[in-house]
Amino acid sequence: MRDADLSDLLLDWYDRDARVMPWRVSPHDRKAGILPDPYRIWLSEVMLQQTTVAAVKDYYHRFTARWPAVTDLAAAQDADVMAEWAGLGYYARARNLLKAARAVVADHGGVFPGSRDGLLSLPGIGPYTASAVAAIAYDEPATVVDGNVERVMSRMFAVQTPLPVAKAELTTLAASLTPDQRPGDYAQAVMDLGATICTPRNPACGICPWMQACEARQQGIQAQLPRKMAKPEKPVRRGNLWLATQGQRLLLQRRPDKGLLGGMLGFPGDGWDGAGGSAPALADWQEIGEIRHTFTHFHLYLTLHAAELPVGSVVTHGHFLSGNEFSGADLPTVMRKAYDLWRDTVTR
Ligand code: ADE
Repeated sequence: MRDADLSDLLLDWYDRDARVMPWRVSPHDRKAGILPDPYRIWLSEVMLQQTTVAAVKDYYHRFTARWPAVTDLAAAQDADVMAEWAGLGYYARARNLLKAARAVVADHGGVFPGSRDGLLSLPGIGPYTASAVAAIAYDEPATVVDGNVERVMSRMFAVQTPLPVAKAELTTLAASLTPDQRPGDYAQAVMDLGATICTPRNPACGICPWMQACEARQQGIQAQLPRKMAKPEKPVRRGNLWLATQGQRLLLQRRPDKGLLGGMLGFPGDGWDGAGGSAPALADWQEIGEIRHTFTHFHLYLTLHAAELPVGSVVTHGHFLSGNEFSGADLPTVMRKAYDLWRDTVTR
C-alpha cells in the first residue's frame, strides 16, 4: 500500500472517531479554518508527557482559567504555578513551562515562534514538544513520536529491535509515513490510534484502519511488540520527614529549584534525596508511621515524625504556614501522602 493511502485511511478514521479533548480543534472545525491556539496546545502537550488525558483535563482547565494566555502565565508567581501543578508529577516540567513562557514574552513579544525550529530555540522545549506544537498548531509536517506512536510503528513494520534502542529506527519509520496534507490531524490521529486501538495489551486489530498493512498483524505477533529491554529493579531509598506544628500552623519548606521535586513545597526531611538534613528542631518527636512512594528511578519509604514545637523553639529550616496560607492540594503527591497520614493520625 502507498504511504499516501495509509495516511488517507488513518485520516478518514480520525474524521469519524477523533477523541474529544478540551484543547483539541476537531477535524470538522479544522477543515472550517479554525486553528488551535499554540499556547493551549503547548500547555496540553507538556502536561500530557508521562501522564494520561484523563489525569490532565482538570489541570488544563484550572491553568487556562487562571492564565488564559502565555503572557498571563509568564507573569505568574513561581509558587502559584508549582501549586497548580502539584499532583501531576515530574515537576521540572512546570519550571520549564515558566521558563519558556517568560522567553516567549521577553524575546518574542508574547507571540509563540511560528515554526518547529523557532519553538526549539525556547528554553525547556524539546524535540517532542516542538514537533507536536508545530504539527498541531501550525500544520507543519513534523513527525510526532510518543510512546503510542512508537508502539504503532513497531507493529506496522514488525520491528524486533527492543526499546529504547529502537527509538531512532521507529522515528525514521514514523517520518516516512507523515503526509504533507493535514499533518496536524495526522499526528493526533496516530496518537489516538495508539491510545484507543493499537493498545499495549489486546490491540483491537479487527477495527484498525491499518489492519491490512500491519506486518505484525500478518505475522500474528502484534501483542509481543514493541519489545523492551529488561529494566533494572528499582532500588529502595529510606528517609525521614518531620511534621512540626505550632498551634494551628504547620512547618513547611520550599525545596531548592534544582533536583527532585524542585521548587515544590514539602516537609523538612533527610536521607532520601542525597541532600542530607536533620530534624528541624529539638523536640519530643513521635514516630507516626511510614509512607511509600515510587519515583522514576527508586522506591521511597519515609518514616514520619510529628511534634508540637513550643513557641520560642529554635527552628533550623522551614517556615510555619497556617491553613489559609497553604492547602494539602498544593503539595506534590509524596508530601500529600505524608500530610494525609499525619492528619489521620495526629489529633489536635
Ligand atoms: N497524547 C499526547 N498528545 C496527544 C494528542 N495531541 N493527541 C492524542 N494523544 C496525545
